[in-house]
Formats: sequence, structure tokens, C-alpha cells
Amino acid sequence: MKAIITAGKSSPPKPINYIQNKHLIELGNTPLIFHALEQVAKSGIKDVGIIVEDGTQYIEKAVKNGGNFGLNITYIHQKGGPLGLAHAVYCAREFLGEEKFMVYLGDNIFDEDILAMRINFENSGANCLLALAKIPKPERFGVPEFDRQGKIIGIQERPIKPKSPYAVSGIYFYDKNVHKAFPHIKPSFRGIYEISDLHTWLAKNGYSVQYLEIKNWWKDRGHPLDLLEGNAMVLNKLKANNLGNVEPSVSIRGAVNIGKNTKIGGRTVIRGPVIIGEHCLIKNSYIGPYTSIGNKVEIHNGHIDHSIIYSGTSINTSKKIVDSLIGENTTISEAEHDTPAGNRLVVSENSIIAL
Ligand code: G1P
Repeated sequence: MKAIITAGKSSPPKPINYIQNKHLIELGNTPLIFHALEQVAKSGIKDVGIIVEDGTQYIEKAVKNGGNFGLNITYIHQKGGPLGLAHAVYCAREFLGEEKFMVYLGDNIFDEDILAMRINFENSGANCLLALAKIPKPERFGVPEFDRQGKIIGIQERPIKPKSPYAVSGIYFYDKNVHKAFPHIKPSFRGIYEISDLHTWLAKNGYSVQYLEIKNWWKDRGHPLDLLEGNAMVLNKLKANNLGNVEPSVSIRGAVNIGKNTKIGGRTVIRGPVIIGEHCLIKNSYIGPYTSIGNKVEIHNGHIDHSIIYSGTSINTSKKIVDSLIGENTTISEAEHDTPAGNRLVVSENSIIAL
């Protein structure tokens, strides 16, 4: 069995749009695509094709040959542009040949037993197996429609009135029959070849489209603060590790992971799960649960909770920073007592600030 991971062009959630490709956004200090590779490796599959945007090298530079994950990676360029997930699968048809395969959407995060899913598919005799999640508002996703016997009869992409409370998540399994579907589908209202239309074609043409239900799934819903939820999901699995230099005056509780050459001192209190990258300096600060701090970050007298602080940022203020997303190389300091009094901001486009 082979796998493909999709990592083509897809807009990063604003304002984290300094990142060229969404799949490189870090949650728990690890790019989304690395989470995908780790999961696929757990399924026991070795041969993995990564679908990348044609003409770019962002993903290749980050992932290299996949050796770190124990995988053999083949890069497949989505020629013709980002024409949708069905088109991405079509582009991979030579790599896949006649083999069964898994598709893993590289911007989704799962905390599920992927090996069990693979075994389930292999034993099911299904032509296609979809991982579904029951969520409150599935209309932002592909939504399955079932017949009275509970059989999937079609998938509607972003329906106004969902026909079930399920969303199609980002893990799919197929046999070779899926390759018959692409020539029959047309671009959707989004101008792309939808994976949902492949599934509907299979269901309507006598192929069995089965499903399993998953619980632990994250996918951003288009709001930057969704990233905090994904970050929390990743940090829930964090293991404590200290490669840095922590003074005895510091209090650390819970799973806290500290990178090389990071110094933590003074009356600092850290309550995990918290990840702190390399070459950071943190003094006299409180770092609360579900916080990720990148590399080369300096924090003095800070109070930070449930936030992502990306690399190169410097914070020197005791004002509480909560539920926040702070992009690379940002400086946050105490307002000087200058006239006119007020907050002094240099804010990039698409930002959200609550003062
Ligand atoms: C895509 C699929 C959609 C599916 C979702 C899961 O949506 O088109 O059916 O529910 O992935 O992540 P998109 O990534 O285009 O929002």
C-alpha cells in the first residue's frame, strides 16, 4: 500500500501569511506537514508521494528525502495549478499504479490510530473508506448523505443544508477503481476538481464507499485563532524534555519541553504543556498551559497563556498575553510614558488586535 500527502498551494490563514505554504505553519514548533509524515509513518506505509505546487521548492527544502521519518518520498508536481484534491490524486496515478493507497491531507491533524484505520480498510473489501467526524457545523466541509440502510450515497461539498451531521475529514483510502472517476467529474463552483465528486461518482456507480468515525481531528476553519486549537491538540501529546539551562529558582510543572541553548531564569513559572524552542531567553515570566514558543524568543517579565509565539520575537511587558498568535520577529514592549499617551502599534495587514 502507498500513501499520498497533499501539500500543494493553499493559502495560509491570515495574518500568518508570511509563510509561503500553509503546510509549513508550525503547531507545537513542528510544521503541519511533519505531523502528517509522522502519522503516515505510523500506518506502516513506506512509499509516500507528496503532492506539491508546481514550480516551488518550499516543501522539498523542509522535508528533504523523508529519511528522518523512515519513509521513501517521491515529490509529485501538481501540473496545471492547484486544481483541487481530485486533480491531485489524478496527478499521482503513475506513482500509485494499481496499488491500494491512503490519501492524507497535509493541513489536517489527527490523533487517531492510523494503522487500525489501514487494517480496517484492507479487511473491509471496500473500494473507498472515508474517515468521518461528527461536528456541530459540517457545512464548511464535504458532507455525506446516507440512505436508510446507512450506506453513503453521495458527498456534497460545502452544502448550504447539510444532509447529515458528519464532515468528511482528511484521511481517505482507495483501491485502483478511484482512477476511473476523474474523467467523469467537472470543476465545481470553486473552479476545482473536488474530492467529494470522486466519492459521489464511486458511490453512484456501484463501488462501495464505506466510512469510519473519528474523534480527534483538527482542521482550521479559516480563522487564524483556529491555530490555537490545533496547537493545543498537538501539545496534549507533548513529552517533558529539557535540553536547556534552567536556573534552580524556576518552577516547572507538567509536560514542558525546552530546546537546546535556551536559558530560563529568575522567578519564572512554567505550567505545561508548553514547548520552548532553541536559543531562547526567558526571565521572571509566567508561561501558561498550551503555549508554543519558537526559536530565538526573548521574554522578560511576561505573562503568556494559551498562545503561539513564533521565532525571533521579543516580549518585555507584564501585560497579560492570552489566546494570542504572534508572528515572527515581533517586538512587544511596555508603552513608554510619552506624550501623547497611548498604545504604539506597527501592525501588519490582516491582523487582529484586542487592546
Ligand atoms: C477539503 C475537501 C473537503 C473536506 C476537507 C477536509 O476541503 O474538499 O471535502 O471535508 O478537505 O479537510 P478544503 O481543504 O478545500 O477546505
